[in-house]
Amino acid sequence: MSNDKSIAKPWGGRFSEATDAFVEAFTASVTFDRRMYAQDIRGSIAHARMLAKVGVLNENERDAIVAGLEEIEGEIESGKFPWSVSLEDVHMNIEARLTEKIGIIGKKLHTGRSRNDQVATDMRLYLRDEIDAIAAELKRLQSGLIELAEQHADTIMPGFTHLQVAQPITFGHHLLAWNEMLQRDAQRLADCRRRTNVMPLGAAALAGTSYPIDRAYTAQLLGFDAVAENSLDAVSDRDFIIEFCACAALIMTHLSRFSEELVLWVSQQFDFVELGDSFCTGSSIMPQKKNPDVPELVRGKSGRVYGNLLGLLTLMKGQPLAYNKDNQEDKEPLFDSIDTVKASLRVFADMIPGIRVKADNMRAAALRGFSTATDLADYLVRKGVPFRDAHEIVGKAVRHGIETGQDLAEMSLETLRRFSPALDEDVFEVLTPEGSCAARKHIGGTAPEQVRAAARRARERLADC
Ligand code: ARG
Repeated sequence: MSNDKSIAKPWGGRFSEATDAFVEAFTASVTFDRRMYAQDIRGSIAHARMLAKVGVLNENERDAIVAGLEEIEGEIESGKFPWSVSLEDVHMNIEARLTEKIGIIGKKLHTGRSRNDQVATDMRLYLRDEIDAIAAELKRLQSGLIELAEQHADTIMPGFTHLQVAQPITFGHHLLAWNEMLQRDAQRLADCRRRTNVMPLGAAALAGTSYPIDRAYTAQLLGFDAVAENSLDAVSDRDFIIEFCACAALIMTHLSRFSEELVLWVSQQFDFVELGDSFCTGSSIMPQKKNPDVPELVRGKSGRVYGNLLGLLTLMKGQPLAYNKDNQEDKEPLFDSIDTVKASLRVFADMIPGIRVKADNMRAAALRGFSTATDLADYLVRKGVPFRDAHEIVGKAVRHGIETGQDLAEMSLETLRRFSPALDEDVFEVLTPEGSCAARKHIGGTAPEQVRAAARRARERLADC
């Protein structure tokens, strides 16, 4: 990127001294805001068309501007565009190049607008595009989860509370819990998109403009749902960015929890699943190692996304109306959150369908830790024993199991009856993990038939959004 002293500043009229070289670099944003070039050009083309519609530009001027901007887009995409730090940001770089290409007409583009409404518009267009890309990755991950859940609607595993074996569940049910979290994330993103898709253009520097602009027309050209009601608010608030970063932080929280479970499950202690080789790395010293780097990294990356959210909240909190240069600091955290959440979702969506499930190990783990103790208590309740007494009886049976090294299902009926005469031969049906899962057959329960129905509903919901 060049730093050419001879380039005149578009705002240089009232200045008699050149900008200090370090200040120039310190205040510039082009090194990072150039990634919004496509949105900046789209916004400028729509603005020029609107100016022609209301008679501020004539048709020839409009056509020259549109053609020039389209050429510039080509230059940027082919890496030929002469970016300059002296021109501060993406907006002035493109505008200056336009004038270089088409002459004096290029200088008319900025009529009736300011960089303040221009940058706010670019950010909203940019974020809108990225929300759509992130939503697509989220959907791909959800679809993989739902498919795996269907395949494992009958696979038994232990469910945990406090990371202690609690009750048997199906692996499909566990996977659909993840899908529910992601479904809410998708809804939050869609909601955030609605508030993002409002057009600031027309607010100009802060108070609006004296030209007879047609904001509804520009909004229609750019696919905005509405125009911002208040010009001060339009150039000033970045709450849509903060809101997106909050959505991103929650997505990362969910992915981080998934990651934590995957890291546990691939460990020798659990040995529930195996990740595809292409998603793991080895150790430079221990030849036997296959490390779950992808989930570990995603868990780690949640930290920077939380940091971005907090940075942006702090950036906004002290600003008086309307635009302040502080807002230039909104870009890097936003871009970082976008990149991080998109990459994390992508790698998860690629990884999940290929995980190998070790169903026998999962079932064996569900048999440990007296996971059907609640089923035994519920059985006694069905035989007329009050729940509190049933709890006590089963507690004693469990203590006996701990002392003798037996699970409940391994005890003889005679032994079990020592704890309650209400127990009969049919008790063994509820003491198996399959019986325990099958009994939880209401909506939201872990029974295989319910898991299959829930997966069907989840897939329908996914198709709707
Ligand atoms: N680069 C600036 C930003 O990102 C554009 C707006 C500049 N406006 C101004 N009045 N200096 O916020």
